[in-house]
Amino acid sequence: MMIEEIRRLKKELNAVILAHNYQVPEVQDIADFVGDSLDLAKKGAETEASIIVFCGVRFMAESAKILAPEKTVLLPVRDAGCALADMVDEDNLKRLKMENPDAATVCYVNTTARTKALCDYCCTSANALAVVQSIPEKKIIFAPDQNLGHWVKSQTDKEIILYPGFCYVHKKIKKETILKIKGVYPDAEVLIHPEVDPKTLELADYVLSTNGMVKRVKESRSKRFIIGTESGLIHRLKKENPEKEFFSAGNALVCIDMKKIGLGDILWALTKKEYEIEVEPEIIEKAKAALQKMVEIQRDT
Ligand code: 13P
Ligand code: SF4
Repeated sequence: MMIEEIRRLKKELNAVILAHNYQVPEVQDIADFVGDSLDLAKKGAETEASIIVFCGVRFMAESAKILAPEKTVLLPVRDAGCALADMVDEDNLKRLKMENPDAATVCYVNTTARTKALCDYCCTSANALAVVQSIPEKKIIFAPDQNLGHWVKSQTDKEIILYPGFCYVHKKIKKETILKIKGVYPDAEVLIHPEVDPKTLELADYVLSTNGMVKRVKESRSKRFIIGTESGLIHRLKKENPEKEFFSAGNALVCIDMKKIGLGDILWALTKKEYEIEVEPEIIEKAKAALQKMVEIQRDT
């Protein structure tokens, strides 16, 4: 019943439901589009719908609003945030910029709109290296995920200054767990997200964004995969590849904020038009330039 009501309201209001790959299964299943941060940002910018119900975390909904300010963007749970995005201290970032006037500032999309407004370029895990390579400056401040920054640094000769942020979910992915699974299934392909510690990344067959993993699993001839990211992605992988087997690279790899939204919250969002994302016009103007570059640059994972 709730599902039918959501579908009815969606049509009546000309709304679209976008969901991140980490959302709970029932939210992924009702969404019009499920994807990673890069594809969701692009979908939000190009949709013809007048309302976007963003099932993800706040920075994703904010990015949709910045790229399409004329649309109503709803985040069904007000406090669905990202602990990594909240690690940026504006004063620290401003100080780093002042100390390195010759550096360009690249921020991960997992940042608040205010942080993006302080940056020159934005990237996601899918195009971080491509964004950095496209920049004329030789010196780059990369914030806030130090593991992603480290991964980019290992593949470029640019000078990368890292900001000390991390994701608590990806931090739980350990080498030992992957080695144990490999000990039983040596044929399993290891796919790891670049937010994971560099020591663990050494075990990866592929370092990929969440959509990069979706694509790799589809193309690969392997039958088994060890998935080094938040466990919500496994629902989509299983659904799209029922003949393949997936092992999470850790126990309880759960992003609490990504799991806050349920069907009831989507119904509420559509009924009450809550919670509307609002970003100050001057922040939109500054952050939009950085985000625009992110959506223009092709994915490399
Ligand atoms: P993706 O951009 O790979 O979907 O990752 C988003 C994220 O929040 C990772 O923790
Ligand atoms: Fe943020 Fe980590 Fe959750 Fe991704 S998994 S939204 S980086 S806290």
